[in-house]
Amino acid sequence: MRKKLIKKGNLYFPSKEFEKRAWVNDKKIYKEAAKNPIKFWENLAKQLFWFTPLNSAKGNLTGEQKWKKTFVHKPPRFQWFVNGKINITSNIFERNSLGWESIKNKPALIWEPEPIQEKFRTFTYEKLFREVNQFANALKKLGVKKGDRIGIYLPMIPEAVISMLACARIGAVHSVVFSAFSSTALKIRLQDTGAKILITADGYWRRGKIIDLKKNADDGIKGTKVKKVIVAKRAGNKVKMEKARDFWWEDLAKNQPDFCEPEIMDSEDTLFILYTSGSTGKPKGTVHVCGGYTVQAKFTGKWIFDWRDEDIFWSTADLGWITGHTYSCYSPLLNGATFLIYEGGIDWPEPRRWAKIIEKYKVSVFYTAPTAVRMFAKYGTGLLKGINFESLRLLGSVGEPIDESTWQWYFKNVGQERCPVVDTWWQTETGGILITSLPGIGPFKPAFTGLPFPGIKFDIKNGNLVLLPPFCPGLLRGIYKNPKKYLDTYWKKYGKKIYFTSDAAYKDKNNLIRIIGRVDDVIKTAGHRLSTGELEDAVSKLKIISESAAIGIFDEIKGEAPVIFIVLKKAGNIEEVKKEVIIQLRKEIGPIAKPKQIYLVDDLPKTRSGKIMRRILKKLFTGEELGDLSTLANPKSVERIQKIIKN
Ligand code: PRX
Repeated sequence: MRKKLIKKGNLYFPSKEFEKRAWVNDKKIYKEAAKNPIKFWENLAKQLFWFTPLNSAKGNLTGEQKWKKTFVHKPPRFQWFVNGKINITSNIFERNSLGWESIKNKPALIWEPEPIQEKFRTFTYEKLFREVNQFANALKKLGVKKGDRIGIYLPMIPEAVISMLACARIGAVHSVVFSAFSSTALKIRLQDTGAKILITADGYWRRGKIIDLKKNADDGIKGTKVKKVIVAKRAGNKVKMEKARDFWWEDLAKNQPDFCEPEIMDSEDTLFILYTSGSTGKPKGTVHVCGGYTVQAKFTGKWIFDWRDEDIFWSTADLGWITGHTYSCYSPLLNGATFLIYEGGIDWPEPRRWAKIIEKYKVSVFYTAPTAVRMFAKYGTGLLKGINFESLRLLGSVGEPIDESTWQWYFKNVGQERCPVVDTWWQTETGGILITSLPGIGPFKPAFTGLPFPGIKFDIKNGNLVLLPPFCPGLLRGIYKNPKKYLDTYWKKYGKKIYFTSDAAYKDKNNLIRIIGRVDDVIKTAGHRLSTGELEDAVSKLKIISESAAIGIFDEIKGEAPVIFIVLKKAGNIEEVKKEVIIQLRKEIGPIAKPKQIYLVDDLPKTRSGKIMRRILKKLFTGEELGDLSTLANPKSVERIQKIIKN
């Protein structure tokens, strides 16, 4: 029986037992790292495997030197491990720092399908390595070369992990698109990357139904450069295969050699592009690179999730998001850990499916979003009677602020007061976790994320959270094909040497950071990231709509949920129009964009220059003072909207 956490005032600390066996348990590490953060990351990076051709070839390095300079800063651009040569898959497999012999027979990945009668699948490191190599060779045979972008539109099945790793093996740049995104959302992303190959599946199970993913993929590639589609068989649904364009995964991979030489990648070569929402309608392709990302993924996971040989780690995030990339793929694998991925709805076919999965696999480290926890809590603790959570030793939270009562519910009912809760703050842009309490040190304070990870420097400027040099090795290096956007979004507000996170935050007297939320036009709904512009662009495409405004308002389960205001060109049937808007959002974005409310109004509050004042619309829900409306072009509109909302 594990010991409970130690409570001192409103802070919690790990039990002595937990502390003793944690990878990191001495708070001196913060001071040490702060003295010289570049050196700190350099020492960690040295524990990875770097190729050494530099010693002999062009890089003119000598002896033990693995890279020329650890950090080079030409604001706003920066580089880590300059000229170092690495492949993330070599560090996962044959050159894993734990030793290949010691991990090759251990399970790397466990896959739990949604239908309960279906059997799970396990991949040992060796089996996963073989499949990655075979698929990498198959990609090469299709002509894929280093630097080519590959679209991945796959559900939560092992092939998603294999595809990402196979791309990384040969230096192709993967761009994973969340499988619940619509075909239009897929198209926009494929057009931006210019991918010529898309990897997808026939279908998958979601809430008891088969989703026809191939059909979406077929629609999504129209008008893109995609010439070849690789289809993994998952659901067995009937799909249309187009000759010379569509290939079954198994046909391509089965006779391929089970070894593929790793591509020697420059530390600053692109590993992947992942799209996320910003303040405009168009999603941004964040560019992540091989060297820095690998270092950060490896050590944040090791110290924050504290994996040991016997741990089973489950992160509920989809591989289509950054949390899936880093902590449901690269980080546990770099650490020789065992992790689980689950195909379906965590409350399907019964509300406690998630708890059953923890019990079934004896999950020891569980990572999820506050929205999921609020949903568990809503179903009631009664449902958890008889569930054995004894295997759990550490809990994590990510993606949105966790309020105090949700934190307490999680801590008490799932963690049984024995598991530290690591509330991890980070972003698609940062590549890995940057703020959290370390589990072997603490303190854990409900609703506070904790301290910056060792070697990371944050500041709070007029209430805004900013990241200071040397930033972190895994921070995005750019927005794909859009250097201006990169500059404007991150390096303008506080100058070229300060990374602006777009989050508001404050510190308590112990320097623990509490995140308040986004200060830009990003809505965090159920932990997902949507921009108001994206929602408005989608809605505005409807012919009947003259203009629209989207805002995020409080939602007791999702944290925030979108609300849409629409103005019609001419009178129409309100209920019909609302239905159309919902369908349109599903078609253009996907089910995550479902609005909580749609209001039909006759005018939107605007400045005299015509800018829609979303801030005022938001205040109508928060009850905040509206302030001086006289500067608006149409102050009366606010009163009318207020009435509509009240009704
Ligand atoms: O507002 C912060 C919130 O999520 C944003 C980043 O979203 P995304 O790029 O989708 O990445 C989510 C997963 C890493 C942040 O700007 N956020 C993330 N983690 C937390 C959080 N807000 C509060 N507490 C967190 N632990």
